[in-house]
Amino acid sequence: MTMDLGLKGTVAVVTGASMGIGLATAKELVQEGARVAICSRDAGRVAAAVRQLEELGGQVYGEAVDMCDEQSAYRFAQNVYDRFGQIDSWVNNVGAQLTKGEDEEEYSDALLERIYAVCFKSAVFGCQAAFRYMKDRGGSIVNISSLGARCPTIGKATLYGPLKAAVCRLSLTMAGEYAAYGVRVNCVMPGYTMTEFNSAHTDSQTMRAICEGTMMNRPGRVEEVARPIVFLCGNGSAFITGESLEVSGGRGLTLNAMFSYEEKARKEKKEAILR
Ligand SMILES: NC(=O)c1ccc[n+]([C@@H]2O[C@H](COP(=O)([O-])OP(=O)(O)OC[C@H]3O[C@@H](n4cnc5c(N)ncnc54)[C@H](OP(=O)(O)O)[C@@H]3O)[C@@H](O)[C@H]2O)c1
Repeated sequence: MTMDLGLKGTVAVVTGASMGIGLATAKELVQEGARVAICSRDAGRVAAAVRQLEELGGQVYGEAVDMCDEQSAYRFAQNVYDRFGQIDSWVNNVGAQLTKGEDEEEYSDALLERIYAVCFKSAVFGCQAAFRYMKDRGGSIVNISSLGARCPTIGKATLYGPLKAAVCRLSLTMAGEYAAYGVRVNCVMPGYTMTEFNSAHTDSQTMRAICEGTMMNRPGRVEEVARPIVFLCGNGSAFITGESLEVSGGRGLTLNAMFSYEEKARKEKKEAILR
């Protein structure tokens, strides 16, 4: 039996959806029967993503938008509304792990501003843009944070975790602010996920360390992160608001995540000897 998420015929927006987790989320939403609007900064990549979504049978709107720019974010929301006549769910997926250079000890003001804009401002503008069209009829907003919010990476990405933690707390305060209008706000914290970028940039040693710190002993697939996001968009999660959900295969939860694998292997070896 499948669970009806109540998304058929609704309108869903995903920001930063020309690739990675955002595109996977848009695909899942199309498959649930939602009309979908996406954006990212690069017009060519947006057009390519729209084609992919249309091939799945979706009614899709795409636009090149920088979600760090206040007016562009609000214009995008208005364009989606003009096109579809309603907005029911909105996923603030824009974010990037911007790092300081190899030998740099300090963040420059310019880099700090960029990280703040892409990780935090984009989510604030997204929430506010969505609320303009949801306040009369309700809706669901999902902010994409990171496992790094709870378990930050130290070093070149020092500021990513703290700003993603701010996205979790933003989700909580916005959930309270919008509650009387029937607008829910939740947050998803992905762990290490195999996007095109990560697949191309992770060496085998790093991958082994990631897997060994993860109870499920592997990285996530984009659709495995997308589905919980879509669940929070739909009415299967109608009584959930202000929550942050980790989707990480159990990464960074214990000091010996590999225990059961080692035990299982030990028992199997013993049984094989006794056989
Ligand atoms: N992948 C992971 O392992 C992982 C883990 C934890 C959290 N996350 C979070 O999950 C989200 C998605 O990550 P991802 O790995 O799927 O990212 P990704 O593959 O790098 O894709 C990011 C998307 O956002 C768009 N984008 C970036 N800046 C934008 C802006 N200012 N305005 C509009 N669009 C913008 C990009 O397109 P353009 O460049 O064309 O704008 C692209 O479509 C992010 O918030 C990230 O922090 C990811």
